[in-house]
Amino acid sequence: MSEAPKPVDALSEAEARRELARLAFEIAHHDALYHQEDAPEISDAAYDDLRRRNEAIEERFPHLQRRDSPSRRVGAAATGGFAKVAHARPMLSLANAFDAEDVRDFVQRARRFLGLDEAEVVALMVEPKIDGLSASLRYEGGRFVLGATRGDGSEGENITANLRTVGDIPAELSDAPEILEVRGEVYMSRADFLALNERQEAAEAKIFANPRNAAAGSLRQLDSSITAERPLHFFAYGWGEVSSEVAGTQAEFLSTLAAWGFSTNPHARLCGDVDEVLAAYDDIQARRADLPYDIDGMVYKIDRLDWQVRLGMVSRAPRWAIAHKFPAEQAETVLNEIRIQVGRTGALTPVAELAPVTVGGVVVSRATLHNEDEIARLDVRAGDRVVIQRAGDVIPQVVRVLVENRPAAAVPYVYPETCPVCGSRAVREEGEVVRRCTGGLVCDAQAVERLKHFVGRNAFDIEGLGAKHIVAFREDGLIHTPGDIFRLRDHGQAIEAREGWGDQSVANLMAAIEDRRRIGLDRLIYALGIRQIGQATARLLARHYGTLADWRAAMQAAAIERTLNRGEMKKPELVGESYAELCNIDQIGIAVADDLVDFFDESHNRDAVADLASELEVERFEIAEAADSPVAGKTVVFTGTLTAMTRSEAKARAEAMGAKVAGTVSKKTDYVVAGPGAGSKAKKAESLDVPILSEDDWLALIGAE
Ligand code: IVH
Repeated sequence: MSEAPKPVDALSEAEARRELARLAFEIAHHDALYHQEDAPEISDAAYDDLRRRNEAIEERFPHLQRRDSPSRRVGAAATGGFAKVAHARPMLSLANAFDAEDVRDFVQRARRFLGLDEAEVVALMVEPKIDGLSASLRYEGGRFVLGATRGDGSEGENITANLRTVGDIPAELSDAPEILEVRGEVYMSRADFLALNERQEAAEAKIFANPRNAAAGSLRQLDSSITAERPLHFFAYGWGEVSSEVAGTQAEFLSTLAAWGFSTNPHARLCGDVDEVLAAYDDIQARRADLPYDIDGMVYKIDRLDWQVRLGMVSRAPRWAIAHKFPAEQAETVLNEIRIQVGRTGALTPVAELAPVTVGGVVVSRATLHNEDEIARLDVRAGDRVVIQRAGDVIPQVVRVLVENRPAAAVPYVYPETCPVCGSRAVREEGEVVRRCTGGLVCDAQAVERLKHFVGRNAFDIEGLGAKHIVAFREDGLIHTPGDIFRLRDHGQAIEAREGWGDQSVANLMAAIEDRRRIGLDRLIYALGIRQIGQATARLLARHYGTLADWRAAMQAAAIERTLNRGEMKKPELVGESYAELCNIDQIGIAVADDLVDFFDESHNRDAVADLASELEVERFEIAEAADSPVAGKTVVFTGTLTAMTRSEAKARAEAMGAKVAGTVSKKTDYVVAGPGAGSKAKKAESLDVPILSEDDWLALIGAE
């Protein structure tokens, strides 16, 4: 046992921060032992002491409360899954390149962003893209203390106990920074995967579709002794939070990782230009089948870390890296039937039901046919032999019909003009490729899909409320709108009486729901499932409006303005102030603004949002690490020529410090940064009394001189 903990009153802020991290980890660990393994290591009294200490520190330093704080968790461990952990730095995904052209564009964009001239060498680290699962390993004082899945990138699951069983993951490091998060890929070799499946088959247990699924299934075991029996490996390639600089280049970082005792991929290669990069790609692609594990492409990373920092990221993917995918794998099979699915926005999507076939190691029995035009173009019919392909995680598609093998009886497919679920007319508006069910709220398919989206992983992420429960609860009249989900607790007995439910599973579901009563504004906006509002746009809106109340008020005002001034639609400023403000948010145009306004035009949508809001505590959107910057929350417009950095870099930098960058000047603009050659925007700023800064003033303001 270590020495007695320091009294809470005596803790410095830095000590308190560390203590909260330690307590979050330790309490989650004891929760898991208690709830999942029925094997507590400490007495209830000692456990209560930990929780009380956590609370006392939070009371003294409320701003240090962690997103994964035990005091925020309402029985998280009791939901039967893993505790959630907030990533100290987000775990990013990668943009994709599909051909050489895309790769050249990627390097060109980076050069332009950094303002490099053609003579400057941009070295790239080329690494195989391992087809596994990414994980983040946190070391404090050289000890492995926390391991997490990627989750949605901001928040993952605590799988420390399972990662401890992976041989390639060192439990201790020497000569590492005090705080170090190492990121990489957990994977299973092809041979181990085949052997595992043989064992599973002999035991009449679950057969895995491919090594990646086997690795995922093994990592997600609640009992880590099962994980320990699975042959998992780990390649390290990246980092998250670090308390001191780890390297100057990616190449150097990989060597450092190896020196710490991590496995790094032996095929990683430093290349001096795009031609060399593409040669490395061809080389590995040719040897792909000989590698003992699956890879689904190559990853290219700008080698210099100072450039990586400047390049930053755009909607959750770094500007300094790209994935170059290997071409899709194809196979032939028979198409048995064409079925129509109805989505959340009423879109009718044709799906091909196939005779099961293996493509790139995965059994495929369905493929998308995209839309009506695609069916006509392919002239695909039930009974046809078809070529299908799949690439990575994308839905398999039908690429070609083998017309020469067509059965004589095959008849052309007639696309339905009514919704196969509710029978309403399905219309295709001029210029649209999609036919949509007009049933709206009366269409069961749309209602169910909307609720499924609402509880989905990137939205409310309510574990244990799957599609089949949504359908059943709707049939019983328990859920119609999202707000009803948060009133399910009043129907505990009705649910418990249903087949397949018991008091524990009901309690788990209720805990999972309660856990989500507090939610970030961006997730809430995304969860509403408004047409065209994906995660990235939802974040832009949350960032711009800050609170749910402000966002709703602005959307409703914009809807009223548009109703009153329909004739002026072409120019947002003429429609009204709120509508113009919305269109003026960088990356949101009129089309997206109109979809938002359409949503708020419908009284049933406004009512559903109001009802939902009354059930929730919606967190103000936090701009990470930028809250105390001098430009946080300010709206800035850049105009004219900038010299210290390119316009894109200036914009990215401003956004990283919490500012909003707009394209046009209005009363709401806080600063116009004008370089030489600034024209009408500077004049407009003058007429509105908006402060005009030179580039140097701006750099001084953000402390970048
Ligand atoms: S770098 C910020 N390097 O690919 C960059 N990712 O599609 C984040 N992956 O989530 C990743 N091998 O799970 C990087 N050598 C490699 C990789 C790799 C596999 C995975 C990783 C990531 C996904 C993005």
